[in-house]
Amino acid sequence: MIQISPSILAADFSQLGQQCKMVLDAGADMLHIDVMDGHFVPNISLGVPVLESLHKALPQAFYDVHLMISHPLSYIQPFVDAGADLITFHLECDSPVQQTIDAIRKAGCKVAISIKPNTPAEDVLPWLEQLDMVLVMSVEPGFGGQAFMESALDKIACIRKHAQEKGLDHLMIQVDGGINPTTAAACVKAGADVLVAGSAVFRSADPKQAVANLRGQEG
Ligand code: DX5
Ligand code: ZN
Repeated sequence: MIQISPSILAADFSQLGQQCKMVLDAGADMLHIDVMDGHFVPNISLGVPVLESLHKALPQAFYDVHLMISHPLSYIQPFVDAGADLITFHLECDSPVQQTIDAIRKAGCKVAISIKPNTPAEDVLPWLEQLDMVLVMSVEPGFGGQAFMESALDKIACIRKHAQEKGLDHLMIQVDGGINPTTAAACVKAGADVLVAGSAVFRSADPKQAVANLRGQEG
């Protein structure tokens, strides 16, 4: 089952609650919350108070929180308290990986590690058994609306192959950046099952059709 996680980075922030309700009504499976600190990536986006407000307004939604920050370990509890259901941090961050995984688990959250385009898939393999999901970035993190990097496909396939060999059938593989119906199909073929899409959903005149198209279905 392919899941669609619209990135709220592409939403109209003046109407964020209504925009999130719109994409959930359109069939999205979760909401992708892109958190940037202006240090790990050259951009600042949003943080705990925004998640807290969204979670209060839409408590049933599943919150997929992507931390593009240098020190995720220091912020796990605030994001969990604000409503995160799944927390993704970057393998390239400055927090110790094992401690960060443990902190997320201890807080009762699902845990994922993300790798940037220049990080080889092999680097995440030692952690697979401990993860619910791996996020393969298909753009340099920091901004929405960038073009998909084909190099993500081999990385997805490599991780899926190793997960299968280890019997980790539950491991989700998420891909993020430049996802449209064409790149989505290529990612699913390679082994991805959670597709993040900002522009393709929030900037669509027909979000329901957009979500269906990403799943490879008719609207
Ligand atoms: C990039 C973010 C992505 C981004 C995706 O740093 O992690 O989630 O918002 O946006 P699109 O789908 O427009 O490439
Ligand atoms: Zn993201």
